[in-house]
Amino acid sequence: KSSAVITGIGGYVPDSILSNSDLEKMVDTNSEWIVSRTGIKERRILTDKTLATSDMATWAIKNLLDSTKVSADEIDCVIIATSTPDHLLLSTASIVCDKVGMTNAWATDVNAACSGFLYAYTLGSSLVEGGRYKKVIVVGADQNSAIINYKDRNTCILFGDGAGAVLIEPTTDGTGLIDSVFKTEGKGREHLLVPGGGSKVPATAESVAANKHFIHQDGRVVFKAAINGMTDTCKAVLERNHMTINDINWLIPHQANYRIIHAVGDHLGLPADRVKVNIERYGNTTAATIPLCLWDFKNDFKHNDNMILTAFGAGFSWGATLLKW
Ligand code: ACO
Repeated sequence: KSSAVITGIGGYVPDSILSNSDLEKMVDTNSEWIVSRTGIKERRILTDKTLATSDMATWAIKNLLDSTKVSADEIDCVIIATSTPDHLLLSTASIVCDKVGMTNAWATDVNAACSGFLYAYTLGSSLVEGGRYKKVIVVGADQNSAIINYKDRNTCILFGDGAGAVLIEPTTDGTGLIDSVFKTEGKGREHLLVPGGGSKVPATAESVAANKHFIHQDGRVVFKAAINGMTDTCKAVLERNHMTINDINWLIPHQANYRIIHAVGDHLGLPADRVKVNIERYGNTTAATIPLCLWDFKNDFKHNDNMILTAFGAGFSWGATLLKW
């Protein structure tokens, strides 16, 4: 049976660094608090106002195509997971197709916030498993700096910008995506959202003045739900596939807070050296955290390693994907 495997990875982070000491000058916070509560030391920010999410996604895909020697016109389909699209009406994926020159691809966006990459990766893999598509690119890309209130210390310390891309192709060698367990619980939506800009709260002078276009988060509620949600779905995907945590070489968790990451690893009984963490350099890049981890640590992964990718985000949306590298 043919399955769908990741055959290439690309990434992009902006050059501009926003450090904890920079944030100390902007809000009432201090680096020691940020590092001890979140694990974050710095984040990358897209400072050039002429650039947007599509540019980061474009550079991540170009990096991927360069490293795999695949040409843009060979790509059948592009799925971009983002909750910071360039525009509300038209997919960021359309813009990226044009900028990269993927003339034979159809393209669309997926929005599941921090779980977006996992959902899009499973959707993209299904297209390949079905046999109709041979080369699918899935991207996680977010310009969080566009929706952050840099006067709100509860949120501005957490988020950064970036993009990661994977190429998915068919294989018969037994590697690739094995299974995903996903959950979506809309009742959690009030705890983490950008209230304005959509059809419910359209942009007006009042909505801008009331800060409705920035991220609002009840950090404590999200923190607990994230630990429980990721732990439960990791256990569920193992159980459904008759595997135990001892079969897993790597856990690649969404990077929102290192305390969440370590709590999930501990609950699963996974030693810390099998849990990948790069939050100290990038902060939370929403849909980009997991592909950026794959990009950063790709040299550590060996053929046939078993991995779980897990995420939790706004919606609430969460889940775990099991794969063989
Ligand atoms: N600097 C200094 N003090 C601060 C800061 C700051 N930047 N931010 C908050 N504080 C204060 C609070 O005001 C509070 O003070 P009080 O006790 O006087 O009220 C105190 O620090 C503790 O605040 P908590 O919110 O309880 O701190 P907590 O340990 O929960 O950490 C954090 C906050 C980092 C936001 C954490 O709750 C968290 O990581 N939550 C989850 C984030 C997440 O996973 N998001 C999901 C993905 S995001 C997506 O989908 C887009």
